[in-house]
Amino acid sequence: MEHKSLTISYTERPETELEPQWQQLVASAKEATLGAYAPYSQFYVGAAVLLEGGEVVCGSNQENAAFGAGTCAERTALFYAHAHYPGRAVQAIAIAARKGEEGFTEAPVSPCGICRQVLLETQQRSAGPIRVLLYGRRCVQEIEGVEALLPLGFENF
Ligand code: THU
Repeated sequence: MEHKSLTISYTERPETELEPQWQQLVASAKEATLGAYAPYSQFYVGAAVLLEGGEVVCGSNQENAAFGAGTCAERTALFYAHAHYPGRAVQAIAIAARKGEEGFTEAPVSPCGICRQVLLETQQRSAGPIRVLLYGRRCVQEIEGVEALLPLGFENF
């Protein structure tokens, strides 16, 4: 038997200390929360995806009375990006969320398991690691590469 362990590393810093390029992507994710349709959870999420070539594609969560039909901001943006810019590598994604009337979350918002799996497959198609920026009022977490978010992800298909 062998014991193995995985560690992840990421950075945390205030939004104002991000490089201008990443500040801009975070700003796009925050703006994208305005497009959310979240009458059931009142949790308004925005995602901004930076593509090779410089285009930024945004998405937001879209809910439905048949709860299972709803989808997350990250997948809205990633699927739109692939549908409209096939073959274009995804370089980064920023995620932000507002909670009801409280405004943007204090803590960084982190993608759900299904979105992590979609990010992993997107990264496999892309040329290099995807930079993930998770926005919170307290700080922005910056993760280089999706494996850190989904260790031992499903890759064997
Ligand atoms: N949601 C996202 O859009 N992204 C996440 O990373 C977490 C959750 C959405 C799904 C649902 O519409 C609402 O937030 C509450 O879970």
